[in-house]
Amino acid sequence: MISFNDVTKVYGDTTVIENMNFTIEDGQFVIMLGPSGSGKTTLLRMVNQLESITDGDILVNGKSVKKSNKIQMRRNIGYVIQSNGLFPNMNIEDNVMIVPGLLGWDRKKKRDRFNMLMDLAGLSPDEYRHRYPHELSGGQQQRIGVVRALAADPPIMLMDEPFGALDPIIRNHLQDEFLQIQRELKKTILFVSHDVDEAVKMADKIALLKDGKMMQYDEPVKMLNKPKNSFVADFVGQDRVLKSMSLYSVKDLADALTLKAPFESPDVKNINENLSLRVAISMLLNQEADQLIVEDEQGANKGSLTLDLIELFLHREVKESV
Ligand SMILES: Nc1ncnc2c1ncn2[C@@H]1O[C@H](COP(=O)(O)OP(=O)(O)OP(=O)(O)O)[C@@H](O)[C@H]1O
Ligand SMILES: [Mg+2]
Repeated sequence: MISFNDVTKVYGDTTVIENMNFTIEDGQFVIMLGPSGSGKTTLLRMVNQLESITDGDILVNGKSVKKSNKIQMRRNIGYVIQSNGLFPNMNIEDNVMIVPGLLGWDRKKKRDRFNMLMDLAGLSPDEYRHRYPHELSGGQQQRIGVVRALAADPPIMLMDEPFGALDPIIRNHLQDEFLQIQRELKKTILFVSHDVDEAVKMADKIALLKDGKMMQYDEPVKMLNKPKNSFVADFVGQDRVLKSMSLYSVKDLADALTLKAPFESPDVKNINENLSLRVAISMLLNQEADQLIVEDEQGANKGSLTLDLIELFLHREVKESV
């Protein structure tokens, strides 16, 4: 658990973090958003004491970071910096195994860990082990940056735009991989991003900063449907309601509302109930169909879905998330 208690950071006479109060529970994945200069990196660096805290305190598992041993702490907290930070003159395996090396792991334990994490990240261990960072693509280097932060199995991860500067396809792929990894490893993660879609897709909670102040700390669906002020609403975007639909599956709607009986129409399409409501909406809006026949896993017909049902579901969800 990481608790920020009235955390303030002042450089000279400029306050860059002001009375920050929030808590990240164990196993929770929090994504921090905010304009450039809003204090995201500064806040991250105060957690592992790369920056001092001017006022207030940060507790990691109940212990003040000010009272923790810096070196030991950084070994227990995985950190991915804004650029991947690989050492150019060390091969990939040596780069990844820096912290386990410092912790005195033996050769076999290090090798097993390297192989396991590379497999998880979708990179063949034997193919990449002896390569140098410049022999990898940008996306592969970023993946290695993430693998390196995970190497010593730290319970806490701080990640500063680990997927920044990647094209959307690779980015999407890495996000999916990382979610898969997180489902297996259940880390406590504070992750910085510039990308609202990335945050909505991956985070348990989003922290939105502006000028060093917390604008809203909430679950993605609440941030999208119930923004606390106009800054939050503008930041998450005009299409925020549509975005929130990617968080629900067709099954969620079918469980909450009664689907209609299918009616006679020339444009009928089937949709698997595990697909997101956003997919359903785009199928209906693109005039591919005026009703969708919802199918369960076995292909059985559960009823008909139309835009007015989605609208009803949306209003109910928005109301309930107040
Ligand atoms: N060492 C420093 N001395 C003085 N001011 C600093 C220092 N480091 C950061 N700042 C200021 O603190 C503010 C927050 O910076 P920070 O790097 O935390 O922003 P950020 O939200 O991570 O931005 P970006 O999205 O561009 O990475 C900025 O106004 C920055 O100029
Ligand atoms: Mg930054």
